[in-house]
Amino acid sequence: MSSRELIVCADKGTIASASTQFVLSEISQSRSPKFMLALSGGTTPAATYDQLARTNGAGELITSRCGIFFSDERAVGPEDPNSNFRTARQHLFEPLGLPDRIIHRIVGEATDLGAEAAHYAALIREKATGTQGMIPRFDLTLLGMGADGHTASLFPEYDFASDTDIVVAPFVESKGTRRISFSVPLINASRVVLFLIVGKDKAGALRRIFATDKNEHVLPAARVDADRTVWMVDSEAASLLDWTGKVLTL
Ligand code: 6PG
Repeated sequence: MSSRELIVCADKGTIASASTQFVLSEISQSRSPKFMLALSGGTTPAATYDQLARTNGAGELITSRCGIFFSDERAVGPEDPNSNFRTARQHLFEPLGLPDRIIHRIVGEATDLGAEAAHYAALIREKATGTQGMIPRFDLTLLGMGADGHTASLFPEYDFASDTDIVVAPFVESKGTRRISFSVPLINASRVVLFLIVGKDKAGALRRIFATDKNEHVLPAARVDADRTVWMVDSEAASLLDWTGKVLTL
């Protein structure tokens, strides 16, 4: 039985602290022989990475327990300012001195992104320590959401019926480029998905997602339904939700 939880945080600083505690708690309590962690793209996670980098013991814990992957990547190399890998390297890997051996980069600069998607899928299958059915299982997948309700690199125009592989390389009309992304089946095989969503521009998409039945997939992010899906959002992103719970302040 899957669950969906909403945690509304006062501001982005609170999200960074709460998500840091969430991630470290999941890793330390996990019984997996290796903790399969997928990092999100975009800019929101940088504050969480910075907080992790300032947390005593985080480097040792992550190094000793984790295999680190990316839930999506742009069609760029690791030195490009738009690279999701570059963001994580700058805010997390280098500050914590994480070893390359636990970090599995998507080769966004590959000339054949379809082949790179297949290669990354094979790497995930090789490294995964568990599956849900035939699909490799991540212990924790971090995701963001765009104002249009996209998540990872699965945008509204994506043909979800074709979503049969675990890693895909869709052409994104609105960006005029291909990307590489986890598919919905791979995301939903995760034990836990943690969305980190900040900003008023996300409020409309969040309202649509939470206003409809879980089975009505109004937007790509609404298709995410892991064993446990936690939506950690700031009060601006939550401003259009019919929600009367307690706002988290740390
Ligand atoms: C990407 C992301 C994407 C991102 C959202 C939110 O590669 O762009 O994976 O899904 O999470 O667009 O981005 P922000 O955190 O920058 O708002």
